[in-house]
Amino acid sequence: MPLSTSDPSPDCPLCPRLVAFRREWRAKQPDWNNAPVPSFGVDDGRVLIVGLAPGLRGANRTGRPFTGDYAGDLLYQTMLDFGFARGVFEARPDDSLTPIDTAITNAVRCVPPENKPTTDEIRTCRPFLTATIAAMPRLRAIIALGKIAHDSVVVALGERMARHKFGHRARHNIGALSVFDSYHCSRYNTNTGVLTPQMFQDVFSDVREFIDSDTR
Ligand code: URA
Repeated sequence: MPLSTSDPSPDCPLCPRLVAFRREWRAKQPDWNNAPVPSFGVDDGRVLIVGLAPGLRGANRTGRPFTGDYAGDLLYQTMLDFGFARGVFEARPDDSLTPIDTAITNAVRCVPPENKPTTDEIRTCRPFLTATIAAMPRLRAIIALGKIAHDSVVVALGERMARHKFGHRARHNIGALSVFDSYHCSRYNTNTGVLTPQMFQDVFSDVREFIDSDTR
């Protein structure tokens, strides 16, 4: 099943606050995406990267996850460095950046005000995450960027959050999948030293090693 079958419709009505925010920005910036941002990448990839939610002037503007803001600069460069993408990342959806063996999605598909989805919005959007995971038949590893993505992935996989605590560089085996945690690659986290590029690379190095040694 193609990944696109697991995306919400462009006019998804499920979260009233996010629908209102999308409408507000559609009026201010009619040329922006201002709609749920679809997953991007390889349908039969073995790796899924899960972010938080589209950035207002990044993915919400361009329509591609992590495209157009600082978080994407670090993410896509790191994917290129570890062989999870090829081409040139130019922060626009028509650049030549092509994921390899990997797809990228968000725990919440619509841009939330202040970059903060509510608990209800995270729960309401989770079926799309579950469907994305289900649409990837060869999936082996999930990289969860930040605690919100981690928690939503754990619940989407049918596990209890209390049994799987988020931790940078922690790895959780859930069924046939391994979930690799990283602090989110936001500008805030890198500016404050919570996440250095080296710490982010360490996670991708762990995943590279895992995927390369995987014989299933
Ligand atoms: N852009 C995304 O698509 N997701 C994030 O979590 C951050 C920026």
